[in-house]
Amino acid sequence: MTGNGNRNWVLARRPQGDDFESALEFHEHGNVPAAKDGQVLVKALYLSMDAGTRMWMGPREDGYQPPVPVGTPMAGMMIGEVVETRRPDFAVGDRLRTFGHWADYSVADEHSGLFQKLPDDPDVDLTAYLAMGGPNGWTAYVGIADVGKAKPGETVVISAAAGATGSLAGQVARNLGCRVIGLTSREEKARWLTDELGFDAAIDYRHQNLQHELNVLCPDGVDVYFDNVGGDILNTVMGHLAMYARIAVCGLVSQYADDGKRPGPSNFDQILMKRATVTGFFSPDWFDKTEEIERRIMGWHREGRFTCNVELVDGLENTLKAYHRLFDGSNRGKVMVKV
Ligand SMILES: NC(=O)c1ccc[n+]([C@@H]2O[C@H](COP(=O)([O-])OP(=O)(O)OC[C@H]3O[C@@H](n4cnc5c(N)ncnc54)[C@H](OP(=O)(O)O)[C@@H]3O)[C@@H](O)[C@H]2O)c1
Repeated sequence: MTGNGNRNWVLARRPQGDDFESALEFHEHGNVPAAKDGQVLVKALYLSMDAGTRMWMGPREDGYQPPVPVGTPMAGMMIGEVVETRRPDFAVGDRLRTFGHWADYSVADEHSGLFQKLPDDPDVDLTAYLAMGGPNGWTAYVGIADVGKAKPGETVVISAAAGATGSLAGQVARNLGCRVIGLTSREEKARWLTDELGFDAAIDYRHQNLQHELNVLCPDGVDVYFDNVGGDILNTVMGHLAMYARIAVCGLVSQYADDGKRPGPSNFDQILMKRATVTGFFSPDWFDKTEEIERRIMGWHREGRFTCNVELVDGLENTLKAYHRLFDGSNRGKVMVKV
């Protein structure tokens, strides 16, 4: 399959802050890439919008992988359908989860990352493979259970709690018998966490005093902090740690766009005072555990104890509208583009 029918988003320059419109260009007549031996040509069905990919746009160069080169298509996770195959283990029509481009078509192989054929199970909504039973679910589980070592009865605080990863992390902690408190920037999202996702409490940190609310809600301190944001929120929570607390550093979204000086938390001394542990983790490092995690999570889902709100934005041309939701805080749960 060849031709110039491949629409794609090209990273034309490094974005300033959240000005993605000036940095990414929508090319409507790009070439359909050619699959070489060992590759498949994939037509995108769903693109996963992930806050971590902000780092891949630059200008930061010290992330966990080098930024996407300027002048090339933006990369991300996706679910797609094989339309051409040059390998024996994939047939036309197979569906897969892989890293690819923000484009109609991508080529993929085992070097792309993820690259997994999906089971042909009509009972599972394909979007579940990107969120609940996919990378967000794995991250949530690893961060709470393995890194945070959350135990029944402990108090767990989660930042960006109404986002994809945070909303799942809160449900993992709740299902493990913890008391769960979510932090978010909007009152309606705070209500969603308590009323629909079973969080014990939620704090709207923009309109409430985070320090005061943590004093009231966590009189014995925070045992596990699952951090998605870093910055001032991390610093404030560090002032409320329980003895032997664990901080699972999942993400630092407040710092991804910033190439300047990043001040350290002034409450760092609390690591010593509370004999706390801080562990950064990257869920692909736990890839060998993902089948086991997916089984557990999807089991909870079937029992009605685990859910993921998916916000679908229609059309590849609307990708930036979808992406903005992660940074203006308007998303609830997982954002995806239905291509
Ligand atoms: N370590 C890993 O393996 C791994 C894997 C997946 C994701 N992550 C990390 O998990 C975090 C969440 O990612 P996601 O894709 O699930 O996105 P998400 O939580 O669905 O969306 C991002 C959320 O972050 C909050 N936010 C955005 N900009 C912010 C800022 N400047 N300061 C404070 N809060 C801000 C907003 O929530 P509120 O408005 O409610 O505050 C927004 O809804 C990211 O840090 C990401 O890098 C890590």
